[in-house]
Amino acid sequence: MPLLDLTPDELLKTTRSVRKRLDLVKPVPMSVIDECMDLAIQAPTSTYGENWRFMIVTDPDKKKAIAEWYKKGHDLFELRQNSAEEELNGAHSAKNRVLSSINYLAENLKDIPVLMIPCILGRLDAEQVAYNVQYQATMYASIIPAVWNFMLAARARGMGTCWTTLHLPFEREVGKIVGIPVEEVTQIAMIPVAFTLGTKFKAAARRPLNEVMRLNDW
Ligand SMILES: Cc1cc2nc3c(=O)[nH]c(=O)nc-3n(C[C@H](O)[C@H](O)[C@H](O)COP(=O)(O)O)c2cc1C
Repeated sequence: MPLLDLTPDELLKTTRSVRKRLDLVKPVPMSVIDECMDLAIQAPTSTYGENWRFMIVTDPDKKKAIAEWYKKGHDLFELRQNSAEEELNGAHSAKNRVLSSINYLAENLKDIPVLMIPCILGRLDAEQVAYNVQYQATMYASIIPAVWNFMLAARARGMGTCWTTLHLPFEREVGKIVGIPVEEVTQIAMIPVAFTLGTKFKAAARRPLNEVMRLNDW
């Protein structure tokens, strides 16, 4: 798959959460997913554990069933947002834009060509893990870098992705749809993947570095 003409810095600056600009029509060849996955698994894992697994879903009936659970998770999220909004007494327009985009994804998830569900072997809610910060950090950090590699590789190939977690209240129900052994395996996210409508994306507006970075002393 030919790569977009982006420098490494441009790639890092323009890999955005893409929702409304996902192309719901253009098919994504499995060969491109394989390319992105090959790059994903170059990421590190704790003590070379490679206890990651990646569920790729392209089957329309399975995507439809997953999308229904995602929508339920989204509805729970929306309820929480609405009550938070009432407390704040009015909405911020940037936040409203993101919410409209989040709604769009929830309405259209079944039509996204590919869903990727990153998983780790083991349960993050197992007692010895749930109360141990080192275990938690080790398990999450043994898959998150790989997923981000995947998302960067996808962007470099003209595709868009978005980190999502809204299906996770229904992790077990979604797991059953695609045969994930939910007693032994934890899903950590769901990444929709599609070609993007246009390939130009902007850098995000973030808090200034001096607000978030400390040097030598907190
Ligand atoms: C841990 C995590 C969970 C997220 N969950 C969702 C989600 O369930 N649905 C969704 O549409 N976006 C989700 N997002 C995307 C964020 O809303 C997104 O990062 C934010 O809109 C900023 O986008 P930007 O990186 O393009 O600036 C998630 C992002 C992260 C890092």
